[in-house]
Amino acid sequence: GHHVSSQRVRFQRRIRACRYDIDQFSPSFLSIFESLVPSEEEIAKQNQLLIALSRLITMEWPNSKLYLYGSCANSFGFSNSDIDLCLSIDNNEMSKVDIILKLADILQAGNLQNIQALTRARVPIVKLMDPDTGLSCDICVNNLLAVVNTKLLRDYAQIDRRLRQLAFIVKHWAKSRRVNETYQGTLSSYAYVIMCIHLLQLRRILPCLQEMEATCYVTVDDNHCAYFDQVDKLNNYGAHNKETISSLLWAFFHYWAYQHDYTKDVISIRTGRIISKHMKDWTRRVGNDRHLICIEDPFETSHDLGRVVDKFSIKILREEFERAANILQYDPNPSVTLFEPY
Ligand code: CTP
Ligand code: MG
Repeated sequence: GHHVSSQRVRFQRRIRACRYDIDQFSPSFLSIFESLVPSEEEIAKQNQLLIALSRLITMEWPNSKLYLYGSCANSFGFSNSDIDLCLSIDNNEMSKVDIILKLADILQAGNLQNIQALTRARVPIVKLMDPDTGLSCDICVNNLLAVVNTKLLRDYAQIDRRLRQLAFIVKHWAKSRRVNETYQGTLSSYAYVIMCIHLLQLRRILPCLQEMEATCYVTVDDNHCAYFDQVDKLNNYGAHNKETISSLLWAFFHYWAYQHDYTKDVISIRTGRIISKHMKDWTRRVGNDRHLICIEDPFETSHDLGRVVDKFSIKILREEFERAANILQYDPNPSVTLFEPY
């Protein structure tokens, strides 16, 4: 009896000491965040490329428009990431594949390099490299939902700086641990950012913009996208909550390792709440969608961002969440150990 209880006392002390001290690691996590942020110069180069490509493409298609989306435009991009572009074009005569092929010709004539038309991908794209800036990019066609969800993420990032800090560190962890590879059954960067937004909504650091009075409306196919986008009016929203970045990281991994109910729950930033798999009819496998971890897309609500996860990768993912949670709980040097390469 004595032996067991003295062990328990020691164990509780250890937890307490670590939890009370977690804030001491914030400066080192913040310096990792700073090291990943792209420079002004890099952002200027990205815009330069956007302008050059827009000019080239509108010469051929005057009514088209080129949009930046993904990490370069949602404010969650690391330095040196590839650029995602979307060409919006109204053309009833040409199929998407025809447009992609024609686009590849236009780019070829414009002296861009390493041009590849990937017409058979789930989302057909043209890949290219710009010799002037050294940047690589992917161009897709008429994928406007991605342009809208890019703006939603950017708007959330402006409300509280801790979102961008948290999501950069989570993405950096996911890339270091190789759990940011959708073709291997793990999650996209987009899914990780949504998971961070959800956590901060539950902690009242972020509001739920889609539940507020809409100031921005776009309809893409059958999806009505509407939300409050005057985020400059919300920049004090989370100020009452003083949690630091290390404590939020601890909460993120603790949630996904030990609290999330994988059998019943769906996280939803559209509602700012946890909703039930049952309600969405996501309780069983349909086709290739297994719904082993459920993350609702904010606009395409029938889309589970966790649908890429299979019975093997779910185990890997959950083990990695547990590893991270335990490092933040016990490791003396979490800002190093967390990112040790897999
Ligand atoms: N996207 C989407 N639905 C998905 C995955 C991605 O709509 N299931 C769109 C989103 O607009 C997202 C963009 O595609 O911003 C790029 O996705 P992804 O490559 O996951 O994220 P990035 O932000 O570009 O991250 P990375 O830094 O890893 O390139
Ligand atoms: Mg990307």
